[in-house]
Amino acid sequence: MDLTNRPRRLRGDGVRGLVSETSLAPSDLIAPVFVDATTDERVPIESMPGHERVPVDEAVARVEEVLETGVEAVMLFGIPTEKDAEGSRAWAVDGVVQEATRRIKSETDAYVITDVCMCEYTEHGHCGLLTEGAREGDGLTVDNDATLPALERTAVSHARAGADMVAPSGMMDGMVEAIREALDDDGHSEVPIMSYAAKYESAFYGPFRDAADGAPSFGDRRHYQMDPANRREAMREVALDVEQGADVLMVKPALPYLDIVADVRREFDHPVAAYNVSGEYAMLHAAAEKGWLDLESVAHESLLSIKRAGADLILTYFAEDVARSLP
Ligand code: PBG
Repeated sequence: MDLTNRPRRLRGDGVRGLVSETSLAPSDLIAPVFVDATTDERVPIESMPGHERVPVDEAVARVEEVLETGVEAVMLFGIPTEKDAEGSRAWAVDGVVQEATRRIKSETDAYVITDVCMCEYTEHGHCGLLTEGAREGDGLTVDNDATLPALERTAVSHARAGADMVAPSGMMDGMVEAIREALDDDGHSEVPIMSYAAKYESAFYGPFRDAADGAPSFGDRRHYQMDPANRREAMREVALDVEQGADVLMVKPALPYLDIVADVRREFDHPVAAYNVSGEYAMLHAAAEKGWLDLESVAHESLLSIKRAGADLILTYFAEDVARSLP
């Protein structure tokens, strides 16, 4: 064959690395950590092998394990002692995330990001305060504007405890602006906001909801999280968060939404984060357990694909394993 173009020329050992377009580093990764105020022992999370809910006393030890792998940042989720209709433990000075943050920041060098949401703290498991829907027969729905002050208080309480960055995940309209103003008014203008800007109403969150005990007790999250059918709407959501002062833009989940990651990368110059969620982790583990997939390879390939699509940072339950396996 008289072929001029032979792409295979660049696939041999030695040159392959030189022409590689994408790479993963431990510093790209953020490890989620679950801190549980209801237990004094580490409790394994069945649907997320290798992950645990740790008591506040173990939070520093857990974060040190993450740091040993080279991963430098954690995202904290809290399981509070008590839940109520308002989710008031979300902003308690002695709340689970606040307490864990104080200890982690005073005893380690980890960069601490905190999830700002109400669903682990409300007894109904929704991401905000409930109200009767506007139309007859709507039933209860989350009251967007009444939820904003709760998110403001929560974000400020995290920043006061030493959080390096806050990550509102509740998909309330106006939440980024409300939190930005509240942080600035309280003297935390240097604390960035990573907004869950395009967060879809996804069945891939299943294992997380068990882990964090945050499943809604009735209904679903369709009236605040995005419809998986929508792509253009994500641009609108992200643009609004940019206008409101978001510093980092997150797309969630990651693998089934790589088109959205790529769109956000193309349209905006902000750092883009993608959340490789609990269901994405659980399905690879389940297949590997059956001997159907090689876990280390598919984990690496998944994260590489998320970066290739345009993410700068990746939140992933594979953070420690992949960081350990990197050269
Ligand atoms: C809400 C929140 C959720 C996740 C992260 N933050 C659950 C939800 O929106 O229902 C899911 C993360 C995952 O599945 O890994 N606080």
